[in-house]
Amino acid sequence: MELYLDTAQLDEVRAVTAWGVLRGITTNPGHVARAGVRDMHRHIQEMCWVADVPISVEVVTTDADEMVIQGQEYATWSPNVVVKIPTIPHGLQAMSRLTKMDVTATCDGCLHFDGCPIRARFAERNALTRRPEVNATLIFSANQAILALAAGASYVSPFVGRLDAIGENGVMLVADIANILRTQNQPGKIIAAAIRHPVHITDVAKAGAHIATMAYAVLTQLIHHPLTDQGLADFMADYERSRNQ
Ligand code: E4P
Repeated sequence: MELYLDTAQLDEVRAVTAWGVLRGITTNPGHVARAGVRDMHRHIQEMCWVADVPISVEVVTTDADEMVIQGQEYATWSPNVVVKIPTIPHGLQAMSRLTKMDVTATCDGCLHFDGCPIRARFAERNALTRRPEVNATLIFSANQAILALAAGASYVSPFVGRLDAIGENGVMLVADIANILRTQNQPGKIIAAAIRHPVHITDVAKAGAHIATMAYAVLTQLIHHPLTDQGLADFMADYERSRNQ
């Protein structure tokens, strides 16, 4: 299962990129507001430069025409942009229209434009002009996922923790969608979202999520175990003792 960061904080992206485990980033208007981002365009381009992974950028309208316009614009910012669209009727309309359009990632305004190896890599594969990928967000039922995939979404994002919070079972929803994809032999990736703790990560991986997106606090929790710390301290002490013998 791939690990994504659910954030708009550049320092978090930098830290996890250094671990070599980051495979993508999901942002949303809440993250953007909390990070105090004023210029989304530049901020997303900076994230692309730091992490060079798929970055989901969410539309901020409930109107299909406006979603398409915003999605087209986002897709020009970087070849790594994935357009995040809410799973509502207007969202489905926008998904099906946007995923049939050819949009070129011009990377206009990017501070790293000259000699950018990311651009060069996509250009080499003739992939700067592409049909934008869509991440269908705010998914709370298997039928919403079925609809989003039918409308052309490449990713569906069930919000696991938010379902748990109202007494439903978020992991079960991930398992249901994974089962549907398998049974129908259908493409599409599940991004388990609204992850609240490390147990969710193990559970959604077992349930068949292709990706889990999580806060920095959850991702950094995944590495810790008191027995690892204790074991390492013991080994280092043993090493020191043997050096001094
Ligand atoms: C996913 O893409 C969303 O950004 C995210 O997981 C939202 O979850 P939360 O606001 O409930 O944490």
